[in-house]
Amino acid sequence: MTEITLSNGVKMPSVLLGTYRTRGPAAVELSVKSALESGYLGIDTAAVYRNHKDIAGTLAKTLPGLNLSRRDIFLTSKLSPQDHGTEKCKDGILKCLDELETDYLDLFLIHWPGVQKLQLDDPQNKLLRAESWRVLEDFYKSGKLRSIGVSNYTVQHLEHLMEHCTVVPHVNQVELHPHYPQDDLVKFCSTHSIHLQAYSSLGQNGVSGKLLSSKSVLEIASNIDKTPAQVLLKWGVLRGFSVLPKSTNPEHIKLNLNLDFHISDLDMTTLNNLHCTEFEKYAWDPANII
Ligand code: A2P
Repeated sequence: MTEITLSNGVKMPSVLLGTYRTRGPAAVELSVKSALESGYLGIDTAAVYRNHKDIAGTLAKTLPGLNLSRRDIFLTSKLSPQDHGTEKCKDGILKCLDELETDYLDLFLIHWPGVQKLQLDDPQNKLLRAESWRVLEDFYKSGKLRSIGVSNYTVQHLEHLMEHCTVVPHVNQVELHPHYPQDDLVKFCSTHSIHLQAYSSLGQNGVSGKLLSSKSVLEIASNIDKTPAQVLLKWGVLRGFSVLPKSTNPEHIKLNLNLDFHISDLDMTTLNNLHCTEFEKYAWDPANII
């Protein structure tokens, strides 16, 4: 299992189990238990995924049998967009800790630069997310959050954050894959030592999606005897990102962690250039939030 070292020295697995849309006790248990049994040591969740309690229940049930404890697991959660602002953010973090039955989180992110129910161009977005960031900094300094970051932040949102932060975010979790490589954001984050965590590595819609069925991806996968999903995840890891494949299929879960293979420079160039002919964004776009 390869690890990433964040700018504050905290180590994080480069592949974590994604749990967006994994909801309900049975689905969560199937996914999280399969992942832990396959060797995953990182789980990514969020308040809006509404699966904290089921994740906590599965961890409590499964970890002892695998000779693991909470400290062996890297646990990420995120602030709900309805909880921006000083007081709501404090309560939101405490609720996450409570639901996940833990006294600390390894990583906590502001999920979205906008505030739920505000217009995209409402100046309150900027003010309230700055308040939220100060709360994250306080929890970080108290040790309850081992690292802190943001999600879905564009260069513009990060530039604004840089003007007032006392802790530079350790992570920015965004949509990143060969159809949407966000080169400018990658450059900005690299300059400021902000680790980029890639979501939607497979393009969100599984095998029916355009990315997983892209001709180039299929050809590269077939030539090296790997699956298209493994190629896309490995692309992310080779680019220095961590990845968060989500699945409720135990076979997929196992395969998605098995990234111990090589992609040639030529194939990486093909993947890096894919967006020139096949550009596609699959998730929500935060670009117009001021
Ligand atoms: P499933 O639960 O059946 O595995 P993303 O993380 O990019 O949003 O993609 C998630 C989607 O990709 C889910 O629909 C998931 O379905 C599917 N998926 C996850 N791993 C694989 C894999 N190895 N091969 C094919 N589809 C996968």
